[in-house]
Amino acid sequence: MREAGIMNRSAELIAMEDRYGAHNYHPLPVVLSKGEGIFVWDVEGRKYYDFLSAYSAVNQGHCHPRILSALTEQASLLTLTSRAFHNDVLGPYEKFVTEYFGYDKLLPINTGVEAVETAIKLCRKWAYQKKGVPENQAKLIFVERNFHGRTLGAISASTDPDARNEFGPYVPGYEIIPYDDIPALERALQDPNVAGFLFEPIQGEAGVVVPSENYLTEAHHLCKKHNVLFIADEVQTGIARTGKLLATCGNCSCQNPCENNYETRPDILILGKAISGGVFPVSAVLADDEIMMCIKPGEHGSTFGGNPLGCRVAMAALEVIRDEKLAENAEKMGIIFRERMQSLVDQYELFELVRGKGLLNAVVINDSPESKTAYNFCIKMAENGLLAKPTHGNIIRFAPPLIIKQEEMESACGIIEQTLKSY
Ligand SMILES: Cc1ncc(COP(=O)(O)O)c(C=O)c1O
Repeated sequence: MREAGIMNRSAELIAMEDRYGAHNYHPLPVVLSKGEGIFVWDVEGRKYYDFLSAYSAVNQGHCHPRILSALTEQASLLTLTSRAFHNDVLGPYEKFVTEYFGYDKLLPINTGVEAVETAIKLCRKWAYQKKGVPENQAKLIFVERNFHGRTLGAISASTDPDARNEFGPYVPGYEIIPYDDIPALERALQDPNVAGFLFEPIQGEAGVVVPSENYLTEAHHLCKKHNVLFIADEVQTGIARTGKLLATCGNCSCQNPCENNYETRPDILILGKAISGGVFPVSAVLADDEIMMCIKPGEHGSTFGGNPLGCRVAMAALEVIRDEKLAENAEKMGIIFRERMQSLVDQYELFELVRGKGLLNAVVINDSPESKTAYNFCIKMAENGLLAKPTHGNIIRFAPPLIIKQEEMESACGIIEQTLKSY
Protein backbone atom coordinates (compact mmCIF):
# COMPACT_ATOMS: atom_id res chain seq x y z
CA MET A 1 0.00 0.00 0.00
CA ARG A 2 1.27 3.49 -0.83
CA GLU A 3 2.14 5.69 2.12
CA ALA A 4 -0.70 7.98 3.08
CA GLY A 5 1.51 11.13 3.09
CA ILE A 6 2.74 10.43 -0.42
CA MET A 7 -0.74 9.74 -1.71
CA ASN A 8 -1.89 12.99 -0.17
CA ARG A 9 0.43 15.17 -2.24
CA SER A 10 -1.08 14.12 -5.58
CA ALA A 11 -4.58 14.12 -4.18
CA GLU A 12 -4.05 17.56 -2.66
CA LEU A 13 -2.82 19.05 -5.95
CA ILE A 14 -5.62 17.46 -7.95
CA ALA A 15 -8.17 18.77 -5.44
CA MET A 16 -6.66 22.25 -5.74
CA GLU A 17 -7.07 22.22 -9.55
CA ASP A 18 -10.56 20.92 -9.10
CA ARG A 19 -11.45 23.66 -6.66
CA TYR A 20 -9.80 26.66 -8.36
CA GLY A 21 -9.51 25.74 -12.03
CA ALA A 22 -12.13 25.57 -14.76
CA HIS A 23 -13.20 22.00 -15.47
CA ASN A 24 -12.38 22.08 -19.19
CA TYR A 25 -10.13 18.99 -19.19
CA HIS A 26 -10.36 15.43 -17.92
CA PRO A 27 -6.73 14.50 -17.17
CA LEU A 28 -5.43 11.18 -15.93
CA PRO A 29 -4.94 11.41 -12.15
CA VAL A 30 -1.15 11.77 -12.38
CA VAL A 31 0.64 14.91 -11.12
CA LEU A 32 3.95 15.46 -12.91
CA SER A 33 6.82 17.51 -11.58
CA LYS A 34 9.85 16.60 -13.72
CA GLY A 35 10.70 15.57 -17.26
CA GLU A 36 13.87 14.43 -18.97
CA GLY A 37 14.07 12.98 -22.46
CA ILE A 38 11.31 10.42 -22.94
CA PHE A 39 10.53 10.17 -19.21
CA VAL A 40 8.45 12.15 -16.74
CA TRP A 41 8.21 11.81 -12.94
CA ASP A 42 5.26 12.46 -10.67
CA VAL A 43 5.32 14.26 -7.33
CA GLU A 44 5.72 10.92 -5.56
CA GLY A 45 8.86 10.24 -7.63
CA ARG A 46 7.35 7.55 -9.88
CA LYS A 47 8.88 7.42 -13.35
CA TYR A 48 6.83 7.04 -16.54
CA TYR A 49 7.42 6.68 -20.24
CA ASP A 50 5.70 9.70 -21.79
CA PHE A 51 3.74 8.35 -24.75
CA LEU A 52 1.77 11.55 -25.31
CA SER A 53 4.59 14.14 -25.58
CA ALA A 54 2.15 16.93 -24.68
CA TYR A 55 0.07 16.15 -27.77
CA SER A 56 3.21 15.97 -29.96
CA ALA A 57 4.74 19.22 -28.72
CA VAL A 58 7.71 17.56 -27.02
CA ASN A 59 9.10 15.78 -30.08
CA GLN A 60 12.69 16.57 -29.04
CA GLY A 61 12.19 15.09 -25.54
CA HIS A 62 11.59 16.85 -22.23
CA CYS A 63 14.02 19.58 -21.20
CA HIS A 64 16.38 19.07 -24.12
CA PRO A 65 19.66 20.68 -22.98
CA ARG A 66 20.28 22.48 -26.26
CA ILE A 67 16.81 24.04 -26.28
CA LEU A 68 17.07 24.94 -22.59
CA SER A 69 20.40 26.72 -23.16
CA ALA A 70 18.81 28.76 -25.94
CA LEU A 71 15.96 29.62 -23.55
CA THR A 72 18.09 30.64 -20.60
CA GLU A 73 20.69 32.54 -22.66
CA GLN A 74 18.02 34.54 -24.45
CA ALA A 75 15.94 34.99 -21.27
CA SER A 76 18.80 36.85 -19.65
CA LEU A 77 19.18 39.19 -22.66
CA LEU A 78 15.74 40.14 -23.99
CA THR A 79 12.39 38.38 -23.84
CA LEU A 80 9.77 40.63 -25.41
CA THR A 81 9.77 43.83 -27.41
CA SER A 82 6.38 43.55 -29.13
CA ARG A 83 6.40 44.27 -32.85
CA ALA A 84 6.36 48.01 -32.21
CA PHE A 85 10.15 47.71 -32.54
CA HIS A 86 12.47 45.28 -34.27
CA ASN A 87 14.46 42.75 -32.28
CA ASP A 88 17.76 41.14 -33.22
CA VAL A 89 16.45 37.54 -33.26
CA LEU A 90 13.30 37.77 -35.39
CA GLY A 91 15.07 38.36 -38.73
CA PRO A 92 17.58 35.50 -38.28
CA TYR A 93 14.70 33.26 -37.11
CA GLU A 94 12.54 34.07 -40.13
CA LYS A 95 15.48 33.47 -42.47
CA PHE A 96 16.28 30.17 -40.76
CA VAL A 97 12.72 28.83 -40.78
CA THR A 98 11.82 29.90 -44.32
CA GLU A 99 14.99 28.21 -45.61
CA TYR A 100 14.34 25.15 -43.46
CA PHE A 101 10.85 24.62 -44.92
CA GLY A 102 11.35 26.27 -48.31
CA TYR A 103 8.92 29.24 -48.24
CA ASP A 104 9.35 32.95 -49.00
CA LYS A 105 7.90 34.26 -45.75
CA LEU A 106 6.87 33.43 -42.20
CA LEU A 107 4.25 35.03 -39.98
CA PRO A 108 5.15 34.43 -36.32
CA ILE A 109 2.44 33.72 -33.78
CA ASN A 110 2.13 31.79 -30.50
CA THR A 111 -0.27 28.86 -30.40
CA GLY A 112 -1.54 26.32 -32.90
CA VAL A 113 -5.04 27.71 -33.10
CA GLU A 114 -3.78 31.27 -33.57
CA ALA A 115 -1.78 30.00 -36.53
CA VAL A 116 -4.94 28.36 -37.90
CA GLU A 117 -6.83 31.65 -37.52
CA THR A 118 -3.97 33.44 -39.24
CA ALA A 119 -4.12 31.00 -42.16
CA ILE A 120 -7.89 31.48 -42.50
CA LYS A 121 -7.53 35.26 -42.52
CA LEU A 122 -4.62 35.13 -44.95
CA CYS A 123 -6.58 32.86 -47.27
CA ARG A 124 -9.57 35.23 -47.25
CA LYS A 125 -7.33 38.23 -48.00
CA TRP A 126 -5.77 36.36 -50.91
CA ALA A 127 -9.23 35.43 -52.22
CA TYR A 128 -10.33 39.07 -52.36
CA GLN A 129 -7.07 40.54 -53.60
CA LYS A 130 -5.83 37.86 -56.01
CA LYS A 131 -8.60 35.47 -56.88
CA GLY A 132 -11.25 38.15 -57.30
CA VAL A 133 -13.85 36.65 -54.96
CA PRO A 134 -16.60 39.24 -54.28
CA GLU A 135 -16.38 40.92 -50.86
CA ASN A 136 -17.50 38.76 -47.93
CA GLN A 137 -18.20 35.76 -50.16
CA ALA A 138 -14.98 33.78 -49.61
CA LYS A 139 -15.50 30.15 -48.61
CA LEU A 140 -13.18 27.65 -46.96
CA ILE A 141 -13.57 23.89 -47.18
CA PHE A 142 -12.89 21.75 -44.11
CA VAL A 143 -13.34 18.04 -43.48
CA GLU A 144 -15.40 16.10 -40.98
CA ARG A 145 -13.86 15.14 -37.63
CA ASN A 146 -11.14 17.76 -38.00
CA PHE A 147 -9.40 19.35 -35.04
CA HIS A 148 -7.90 22.80 -35.50
CA GLY A 149 -8.13 24.17 -31.97
CA ARG A 150 -10.60 25.99 -29.79
CA THR A 151 -11.26 29.50 -31.10
CA LEU A 152 -14.57 30.35 -32.73
CA GLY A 153 -12.89 30.30 -36.15
CA ALA A 154 -11.72 26.73 -35.52
CA ILE A 155 -14.78 25.28 -33.78
CA SER A 156 -17.07 26.71 -36.45
CA ALA A 157 -15.46 24.10 -38.72
CA SER A 158 -15.75 21.31 -36.16
CA THR A 159 -18.17 18.40 -36.32
CA ASP A 160 -17.53 17.41 -32.70
CA PRO A 161 -20.57 18.30 -30.56
CA ASP A 162 -18.40 18.73 -27.43
CA ALA A 163 -16.28 21.32 -29.22
CA ARG A 164 -19.27 23.16 -30.77
CA ASN A 165 -22.44 22.91 -28.76
CA GLU A 166 -23.69 26.07 -27.09
CA PHE A 167 -20.79 28.12 -28.45
CA GLY A 168 -22.71 29.46 -31.44
CA PRO A 169 -23.35 31.52 -33.47
CA TYR A 170 -20.58 30.24 -35.70
CA VAL A 171 -18.28 31.81 -38.27
CA PRO A 172 -19.92 31.72 -41.72
CA GLY A 173 -18.29 30.88 -45.03
CA TYR A 174 -17.34 27.28 -44.26
CA GLU A 175 -18.28 24.06 -46.01
CA ILE A 176 -17.55 20.74 -44.34
CA ILE A 177 -17.07 17.64 -46.47
CA PRO A 178 -16.11 14.02 -45.61
CA TYR A 179 -12.38 13.32 -45.10
CA ASP A 180 -10.49 11.22 -47.59
CA ASP A 181 -13.21 11.73 -50.19
CA ILE A 182 -11.91 13.13 -53.47
CA PRO A 183 -15.29 13.23 -55.30
CA ALA A 184 -16.74 15.28 -52.39
CA LEU A 185 -13.83 17.70 -52.64
CA GLU A 186 -14.26 17.97 -56.38
CA ARG A 187 -17.97 18.81 -55.94
CA ALA A 188 -17.22 21.44 -53.30
CA LEU A 189 -14.57 23.04 -55.52
CA GLN A 190 -17.14 23.83 -58.22
CA ASP A 191 -18.13 26.96 -56.27
CA PRO A 192 -15.95 29.78 -57.69
CA ASN A 193 -15.93 31.53 -54.29
CA VAL A 194 -13.98 28.72 -52.64
CA ALA A 195 -10.69 30.23 -51.49
CA GLY A 196 -9.03 27.43 -49.55
CA PHE A 197 -9.08 23.79 -48.48
CA LEU A 198 -7.86 23.46 -44.89
CA PHE A 199 -7.05 19.97 -43.60
CA GLU A 200 -4.84 17.84 -41.37
CA PRO A 201 -2.67 15.46 -43.43
CA ILE A 202 -3.35 12.85 -40.73
CA GLN A 203 -6.22 13.55 -38.33
CA GLY A 204 -4.59 13.44 -34.91
CA GLU A 205 -7.41 14.18 -32.46
CA ALA A 206 -9.92 12.15 -34.46
CA GLY A 207 -7.82 9.09 -33.56
CA VAL A 208 -4.81 9.18 -35.89
CA VAL A 209 -6.83 8.71 -39.08
CA VAL A 210 -4.48 8.22 -42.03
CA PRO A 211 -6.04 8.98 -45.43
CA SER A 212 -5.62 6.78 -48.52
CA GLU A 213 -2.20 6.91 -50.10
CA ASN A 214 -3.00 9.29 -52.96
CA TYR A 215 -5.53 11.49 -51.16
CA LEU A 216 -3.20 14.43 -50.55
CA THR A 217 -1.71 14.31 -54.05
CA GLU A 218 -5.13 14.24 -55.69
CA ALA A 219 -6.53 16.90 -53.36
CA HIS A 220 -3.53 19.11 -54.14
CA HIS A 221 -4.00 18.60 -57.86
CA LEU A 222 -7.70 19.54 -57.63
CA CYS A 223 -6.97 22.66 -55.58
CA LYS A 224 -4.42 23.79 -58.17
CA LYS A 225 -6.92 23.16 -60.96
CA HIS A 226 -9.56 25.34 -59.26
CA ASN A 227 -7.17 28.05 -58.03
CA VAL A 228 -7.87 27.19 -54.39
CA LEU A 229 -5.24 27.38 -51.64
CA PHE A 230 -4.08 24.02 -50.26
CA ILE A 231 -3.68 24.75 -46.54
CA ALA A 232 -2.08 22.12 -44.31
CA ASP A 233 -2.56 22.20 -40.57
CA GLU A 234 0.64 20.41 -39.52
CA VAL A 235 0.45 21.59 -35.91
CA GLN A 236 0.40 17.99 -34.72
CA THR A 237 1.81 16.06 -37.70
CA GLY A 238 4.69 18.41 -38.54
CA ILE A 239 8.26 18.67 -37.21
CA ALA A 240 9.20 15.04 -37.94
CA ARG A 241 6.36 13.42 -35.96
CA THR A 242 5.20 11.17 -38.79
CA GLY A 243 8.68 10.10 -39.93
CA LYS A 244 9.12 13.00 -42.39
CA LEU A 245 9.78 16.63 -41.63
CA LEU A 246 6.17 17.25 -42.69
CA ALA A 247 3.32 14.80 -43.21
CA THR A 248 2.52 16.61 -46.46
CA CYS A 249 5.92 15.46 -47.72
CA GLY A 250 3.76 12.46 -48.64
CA ASN A 251 5.33 10.13 -51.13
CA CYS A 252 8.41 12.21 -51.81
CA SER A 253 11.79 10.97 -50.67
CA CYS A 254 13.78 14.18 -50.24
CA GLN A 255 16.04 14.65 -47.20
CA ASN A 256 15.68 17.42 -44.64
CA PRO A 257 15.75 20.34 -44.99
CA CYS A 258 12.86 20.36 -47.36
CA GLU A 259 13.78 20.78 -51.01
CA ASN A 260 10.54 22.58 -51.73
CA ASN A 261 9.53 20.71 -54.85
CA TYR A 262 7.29 17.96 -53.59
CA GLU A 263 3.95 17.41 -55.20
CA THR A 264 1.78 18.03 -52.14
CA ARG A 265 3.49 21.24 -51.00
CA PRO A 266 0.96 23.36 -49.09
CA ASP A 267 0.32 26.92 -50.27
CA ILE A 268 -0.06 27.80 -46.60
CA LEU A 269 1.72 25.70 -43.98
CA ILE A 270 0.58 25.88 -40.35
CA LEU A 271 3.05 24.85 -37.64
CA GLY A 272 2.98 24.89 -33.85
CA LYS A 273 3.66 22.60 -30.92
CA ALA A 274 7.07 20.95 -31.59
CA ILE A 275 8.45 23.96 -33.47
CA SER A 276 9.61 25.00 -29.99
CA GLY A 277 10.05 21.50 -28.57
CA GLY A 278 7.29 22.24 -26.07
CA VAL A 279 9.51 24.74 -24.27
CA PHE A 280 7.68 27.93 -25.18
CA PRO A 281 4.45 28.68 -27.09
CA VAL A 282 5.56 29.31 -30.68
CA SER A 283 3.61 28.80 -33.88
CA ALA A 284 4.09 29.89 -37.46
CA VAL A 285 2.36 30.33 -40.77
CA LEU A 286 4.49 29.95 -43.88
CA ALA A 287 3.61 30.98 -47.44
CA ASP A 288 5.15 32.50 -50.53
CA ASP A 289 5.07 36.22 -51.29
CA GLU A 290 2.09 35.98 -53.64
CA ILE A 291 -0.02 35.00 -50.64
CA MET A 292 1.79 36.41 -47.59
CA MET A 293 2.17 39.90 -48.99
CA CYS A 294 -1.63 40.23 -49.07
CA ILE A 295 -1.45 41.14 -45.37
CA LYS A 296 -0.27 44.69 -44.69
CA PRO A 297 0.91 46.47 -41.52
CA GLY A 298 -1.81 46.76 -38.92
CA GLU A 299 -4.00 44.05 -40.40
CA HIS A 300 -2.90 41.13 -38.19
CA GLY A 301 -0.55 40.44 -35.29
CA SER A 302 0.00 39.53 -31.66
CA THR A 303 1.93 41.10 -28.78
CA PHE A 304 3.99 37.96 -28.21
CA GLY A 305 4.30 36.79 -31.85
CA GLY A 306 7.94 36.92 -32.96
CA ASN A 307 9.29 37.50 -29.46
CA PRO A 308 13.05 36.91 -29.23
CA LEU A 309 12.71 34.22 -26.59
CA GLY A 310 10.36 32.09 -28.68
CA CYS A 311 12.39 32.67 -31.85
CA ARG A 312 15.66 31.57 -30.22
CA VAL A 313 14.02 28.51 -28.68
CA ALA A 314 12.39 27.51 -31.97
CA MET A 315 15.66 27.75 -33.89
CA ALA A 316 17.32 25.45 -31.36
CA ALA A 317 14.37 23.05 -31.46
CA LEU A 318 14.51 22.81 -35.27
CA GLU A 319 18.29 22.33 -35.18
CA VAL A 320 17.79 19.40 -32.81
CA ILE A 321 15.29 17.82 -35.23
CA ARG A 322 17.80 18.07 -38.07
CA ASP A 323 21.04 17.28 -36.22
CA GLU A 324 19.64 14.33 -34.29
CA LYS A 325 17.91 12.98 -37.41
CA LEU A 326 14.63 12.69 -35.58
CA ALA A 327 12.48 12.18 -38.70
CA GLU A 328 14.51 9.09 -39.57
CA ASN A 329 14.32 7.82 -36.01
CA ALA A 330 10.54 8.38 -35.88
CA GLU A 331 10.18 6.37 -39.07
CA LYS A 332 12.22 3.44 -37.70
CA MET A 333 10.75 3.40 -34.21
CA GLY A 334 7.24 3.69 -35.62
CA ILE A 335 7.71 0.51 -37.61
CA ILE A 336 8.84 -1.34 -34.47
CA PHE A 337 5.88 0.03 -32.49
CA ARG A 338 3.28 -0.95 -35.06
CA GLU A 339 4.79 -4.44 -35.50
CA ARG A 340 4.67 -5.01 -31.73
CA MET A 341 1.11 -3.69 -31.48
CA GLN A 342 0.00 -5.72 -34.48
CA SER A 343 1.16 -8.88 -32.72
CA LEU A 344 -0.98 -7.84 -29.71
CA VAL A 345 -3.95 -7.14 -32.02
CA ASP A 346 -3.50 -10.69 -33.37
CA GLN A 347 -3.39 -12.23 -29.88
CA TYR A 348 -5.81 -10.21 -27.76
CA GLU A 349 -9.42 -9.35 -28.39
CA LEU A 350 -9.24 -6.01 -26.57
CA PHE A 351 -6.96 -4.49 -29.21
CA GLU A 352 -8.87 -4.12 -32.46
CA LEU A 353 -6.34 -2.45 -34.72
CA VAL A 354 -3.22 -0.31 -34.81
CA ARG A 355 -2.63 2.50 -37.29
CA GLY A 356 -0.41 5.51 -37.80
CA LYS A 357 2.75 6.84 -39.39
CA GLY A 358 6.16 7.42 -37.84
CA LEU A 359 5.58 8.00 -34.14
CA LEU A 360 2.00 9.21 -34.43
CA ASN A 361 0.05 6.01 -33.81
CA ALA A 362 -3.17 4.80 -32.26
CA VAL A 363 -4.67 1.56 -31.06
CA VAL A 364 -8.42 1.14 -31.42
CA ILE A 365 -9.94 -0.62 -28.41
CA ASN A 366 -12.56 -3.23 -29.06
CA ASP A 367 -15.45 -1.54 -27.26
CA SER A 368 -18.08 1.08 -28.01
CA PRO A 369 -16.91 4.68 -28.54
CA GLU A 370 -18.92 5.69 -25.45
CA SER A 371 -17.27 3.09 -23.21
CA LYS A 372 -14.68 3.97 -20.56
CA THR A 373 -12.46 1.04 -21.53
CA ALA A 374 -9.73 3.08 -23.24
CA TYR A 375 -9.56 5.52 -20.32
CA ASN A 376 -9.42 2.69 -17.79
CA PHE A 377 -6.73 0.95 -19.82
CA CYS A 378 -4.68 4.17 -19.75
CA ILE A 379 -5.03 4.27 -15.95
CA LYS A 380 -3.66 0.71 -15.78
CA MET A 381 -0.78 1.57 -18.12
CA ALA A 382 0.05 4.55 -15.90
CA GLU A 383 0.19 2.24 -12.88
CA ASN A 384 2.66 0.15 -14.87
CA GLY A 385 4.78 3.18 -15.82
CA LEU A 386 3.55 4.43 -19.21
CA LEU A 387 1.43 7.51 -19.89
CA ALA A 388 -0.93 7.71 -22.85
CA LYS A 389 -4.38 9.19 -23.28
CA PRO A 390 -7.50 8.25 -25.26
CA THR A 391 -8.32 10.56 -28.15
CA HIS A 392 -11.90 10.00 -29.10
CA GLY A 393 -13.90 7.37 -27.25
CA ASN A 394 -12.17 4.06 -27.56
CA ILE A 395 -8.96 5.08 -29.32
CA ILE A 396 -5.61 5.43 -27.54
CA ARG A 397 -2.94 7.60 -29.14
CA PHE A 398 0.71 6.58 -28.65
CA ALA A 399 3.14 9.38 -29.48
CA PRO A 400 6.44 9.27 -27.55
CA PRO A 401 9.21 11.85 -28.02
CA LEU A 402 11.06 11.16 -31.28
CA ILE A 403 14.36 10.60 -29.47
CA ILE A 404 13.21 7.21 -28.17
CA LYS A 405 15.76 4.41 -28.71
CA GLN A 406 15.02 0.86 -29.81
CA GLU A 407 15.55 -0.78 -26.38
CA GLU A 408 13.33 1.85 -24.79
CA MET A 409 10.65 1.27 -27.39
CA GLU A 410 10.85 -2.49 -26.77
CA SER A 411 10.55 -1.96 -23.03
CA ALA A 412 7.61 0.45 -23.41
CA CYS A 413 5.83 -2.02 -25.69
CA GLY A 414 6.48 -4.61 -22.94
CA ILE A 415 4.55 -2.41 -20.49
CA ILE A 416 1.61 -2.17 -22.91
CA GLU A 417 1.68 -5.96 -23.37
CA GLN A 418 1.93 -6.61 -19.64
CA THR A 419 -1.06 -4.30 -19.02
CA LEU A 420 -3.03 -6.05 -21.70
CA LYS A 421 -2.26 -9.50 -20.27
CA SER A 422 -3.46 -8.50 -16.83
CA TYR A 423 -6.46 -6.46 -17.98
C1 LIG B 1 -4.00 19.72 -35.89
C2 LIG B 1 -4.09 20.71 -34.80
N1 LIG B 1 -4.32 22.00 -35.09
C3 LIG B 1 -4.39 22.95 -34.14
C4 LIG B 1 -4.26 22.61 -32.82
C5 LIG B 1 -4.39 23.69 -31.76
O1 LIG B 1 -3.16 23.96 -31.20
P1 LIG B 1 -3.10 24.78 -29.81
O2 LIG B 1 -3.68 23.88 -28.77
O3 LIG B 1 -1.64 25.07 -29.60
O4 LIG B 1 -3.90 26.00 -30.01
C6 LIG B 1 -4.02 21.28 -32.46
C7 LIG B 1 -3.88 20.90 -31.04
O5 LIG B 1 -3.96 19.76 -30.66
C8 LIG B 1 -3.94 20.31 -33.48
O6 LIG B 1 -3.72 19.02 -33.19
